[in-house]
Amino acid sequence: MDPGPDMTALERMLRIAVVTCSDSRFAGDAEDTAGLALTSLAEECGWEIADYRIVPDDREVIGAALVELADRIAADVVLTCGGTGFSPRDVTPEATHDVCDRLASGIAEAMRAGSMAITRRAMLSRGSAGLRGRTLVINMPGSEKAARETFGLVADQLEHAVEMMAGGGHP
Ligand code: MTE
Repeated sequence: MDPGPDMTALERMLRIAVVTCSDSRFAGDAEDTAGLALTSLAEECGWEIADYRIVPDDREVIGAALVELADRIAADVVLTCGGTGFSPRDVTPEATHDVCDRLASGIAEAMRAGSMAITRRAMLSRGSAGLRGRTLVINMPGSEKAARETFGLVADQLEHAVEMMAGGGHP
């Protein structure tokens, strides 16, 4: 029997925003290869890039960007990139916690656990994840290598996560 058009795939087209948090990339002193890699990887999954921007390592500015992307642009998933380490200017997880209603700790745990099998430096990322309304925010580290690796560790669960945020998922 002809199963008809693949509505499931259409329904699962995600709207992704990428926010690179980096003073040097914001100032134009460094290229944002990591943020651009995340946009390409998301597109390769068949998802739409709803927004891409670079912000400085400033807790309030990052928080305001996340609020706009969740509340006005209505991104399903916001991938932040950078600012998860131990330097005094690394405040992306704090900005994420400021604006999220609920934590999604399992996603951060999965990224760190999977990354530890690649490099023990993974324990130096404080990256978090949380939900603001119907938007999932995920903090990824800022190097292109780390961004690619962590995307690969969570990408397969994002469509189901978004379904559940919308009230769907398990019967
Ligand atoms: N995770 C993966 N998968 N691969 C990496 O190379 N680098 C680590 C860690 N997580 C890395 C990783 C390093 S060296 C640092 S300092 C922290 O992420 C924080 O990175 P950030 O400050 O750019 O966010």
